[in-house]
Amino acid sequence: MDEQQWDDTPIAAAARRAAQVSTGSLSLPKPDAPRTITIANQKGGVGKTTTSVNMAASLAYHGLKVLVIDLDPQGNASTALGVEHRTGTLSSYEVLIGEVSAAEAVQQSPANENLFCIPATIDLAGAEIELVSLVRREYRLADALHQEFLEEAGFDYVFVDCPPSLGLLTINAMTAVNEVMIPIQCEYYALEGVGQLLGNITMIRQHLNTQLHISAIILTMYDGRTKLSQQVVDEVSNQFGDVVLNNVIPRSVKVSEAPGFGQTVIDYDPGSRGALAYLDAAKELATRGDYQPHESTGPIGVSPDIAAQLNGPADEADAVDEESVEE
Ligand SMILES: Nc1ncnc2c1ncn2[C@@H]1O[C@H](COP(=O)(O)OP(=O)(O)OP(=O)(O)O)[C@@H](O)[C@H]1O
Ligand SMILES: [Mg+2]
Repeated sequence: MDEQQWDDTPIAAAARRAAQVSTGSLSLPKPDAPRTITIANQKGGVGKTTTSVNMAASLAYHGLKVLVIDLDPQGNASTALGVEHRTGTLSSYEVLIGEVSAAEAVQQSPANENLFCIPATIDLAGAEIELVSLVRREYRLADALHQEFLEEAGFDYVFVDCPPSLGLLTINAMTAVNEVMIPIQCEYYALEGVGQLLGNITMIRQHLNTQLHISAIILTMYDGRTKLSQQVVDEVSNQFGDVVLNNVIPRSVKVSEAPGFGQTVIDYDPGSRGALAYLDAAKELATRGDYQPHESTGPIGVSPDIAAQLNGPADEADAVDEESVEE
């Protein structure tokens, strides 16, 4: 029996579940202000939706209040969260065109009382074109999500799931948030299109949303049996540094099965390798906080340690001085 099969047996799952519970890993820091994160990569099928819903469900599992905004006409995030998204349902489309407020379109996910979703219906397919003639077309989502709404509703995290394109829907997703998380699939051509995505984020930072930055990159569908997967991990880490989350998401059948049951893998099989990987990645994202870029790294976030190093010895000495003064 190879490692993969053994890993998916019920006894292995039970052992992992027991270990998880016994480590008492059930508390995560609540951010001071709501963290808003767009999950984007114009390459299709890299794990944007899977990452959106499972990161969200992981944080909700730890008691944080989380909203997922489905901005993809395919409505895959809405499906995975088990929320209504038939034509006629109040959705992100009505929010974007200004017919309803964000609060009116929010639904609670049946699986978790802390997890909410503004769903996408097929109506959203026409939005790319309809938005063109509307005022503040790049800011329709940002305007709807004004800070008061997020704070009044008490959301700790907001994730926006994007379609696989760099059109107006994705631009709306990027002006509405501070952070971007990029999923990269551990496969051939993993970095294809990432340069273009970085270019777009840089342009949006310059012209539409100065706060926007890449605060995390997450590697998805890692297959431990192939050299290729490890090569992708190495290449992405070399290129992007510590903005890449240490917790890599393995390829796992449970992860791909869960949406078929209208569930995230966190609810479908919380002891599975896929669920535990997302729980760990969410914990990492929550505990390390928002990685801001240094002036020399463009839109790419760095850890506070790296920022101090990039600032050079003079600044480090200053930082030490400040600390000793405080003492
Ligand atoms: N860790 C994983 N293990 C196994 N299958 C996965 C994993 N992550 C995602 N998948 C599967 O890969 C496919 C693509 O994933 P997903 O829908 O999340 O990508 P996406 O980037 O949102 O796609 P799109 O560009 O179409 O919106 C789905 O069938 C999903 O179930
Ligand atoms: Mg998707």
